[in-house]
Amino acid sequence: MKILLTGGLGYIGSHTAVELIKAGHEVIIVDNLSNSERSVKDKIERITQQEVIFYKADLRKEKAIRQIFEDNTVDAVIHFAGLKAVGESVSKPLEYYENNICGTINLLKVMKDYNVNNLVFSSSATVYGASNPMPLTEDCPTSATNPYGRTKLFIEEILKDYYNANKSMNIVILRYFNPVGAHDSGIIGENPKGIPNNLMPFVAKVACGKLDELHVFGNDYDTKDGTCIRDYIHICDLAEGHLAAVNKLNEKCGLKIYNLGTGTGYSVLDVVNTYNKVCENKVKYAFAPRREGDVKECYACPDKALQELGWQAKRNLYDMCLSSYTYEQNQAKRK
Ligand code: NAD
Ligand code: UFG
Repeated sequence: MKILLTGGLGYIGSHTAVELIKAGHEVIIVDNLSNSERSVKDKIERITQQEVIFYKADLRKEKAIRQIFEDNTVDAVIHFAGLKAVGESVSKPLEYYENNICGTINLLKVMKDYNVNNLVFSSSATVYGASNPMPLTEDCPTSATNPYGRTKLFIEEILKDYYNANKSMNIVILRYFNPVGAHDSGIIGENPKGIPNNLMPFVAKVACGKLDELHVFGNDYDTKDGTCIRDYIHICDLAEGHLAAVNKLNEKCGLKIYNLGTGTGYSVLDVVNTYNKVCENKVKYAFAPRREGDVKECYACPDKALQELGWQAKRNLYDMCLSSYTYEQNQAKRK
């Protein structure tokens, strides 16, 4: 299939591009480079030895998106493009609503005009809000606690309405848990601009000496060691989940929602201790106050994805930490 990846030079998009190309699909990428580098295109091509068509364009500009569909016969779209920093979304809500929601509406309008009926959308476990029992199943009630989460929730609702009006659409909504780690080649990985907000990239920078120590946000939660529990999933497992979702589209699936997680929760200290095994104890940490908005625990029930997509995560926490460390070391060597 010829698959358009919006936001395809970003963290999840780039790993998915590699996986799709490996499986024989043709990939077109559109990205405005607001949170990625053009060099990622070359890296994808280096890993896959295949050429990737790239458009530097913004989903908020409908005309630019239209041109991509004019130039190419697109079979399916995987829609990754979006702003994703929770804290920033609180201080810049309009930017988040405009970028994520208007971008999606433009995309859907153009897809409709060009009769493209297959869509995979990047949603998030954040749509489960803070009050559900664990593990989270796809039919748990949804809610949002910040503007970023609300954009995901609103887009899910828009997609449901759109599907109800266009039953020839096939839409797979993927709710990711906590993607971490890097490609086995060590060539692509997570490379946030500035000081990382998320745990694993922060730990990676401490392990490589770029940051002094990790602040563990809260050690007084009601969990086995007092730190928060998350469902960390290896980025390559997540990428394979997209391949399974694309196969599902081909079954004329209608609208489906799947969790992509491992089903296992690890604490912040589990992550630090495992990372220290791969990097010879270079991760120093100190306990700090709780971070506002954090939930005690969040992990998936991944059964539906196994039953209906035939997909499950295969890599463990050690693999996640090792791939993250290898990538971070490669980054450090390049500088
Ligand atoms: P990322 O920032 O690395 O990638 C997103 C890409 O989209 C970037 O390359 C950015 O330049 C591009 N982009 C943003 N707005 C755009 C626009 N208007 N037009 C064109 N390109 C645009 O993020 P990621 O981690 O790869 O996340 C991909 C998707 O998955 C996002 O929608 C995110 O909300 C969602 N998600 C991510 C996580 C996570 O922890 N990484 C968890 C749940 C859901
Ligand atoms: N943490 C620290 N120190 C840090 C960073 C994080 O202790 O420097 C802790 C957090 O308090 C939390 C855990 O590590 O307990 C994981 O935090 P992340 O920021 O890595 O991930 P979150 O679970 O908070 O959120 C991520 C994405 C959201 C997404 C959510 C569910 O950032 O966008 O996963 O997919 F919605």
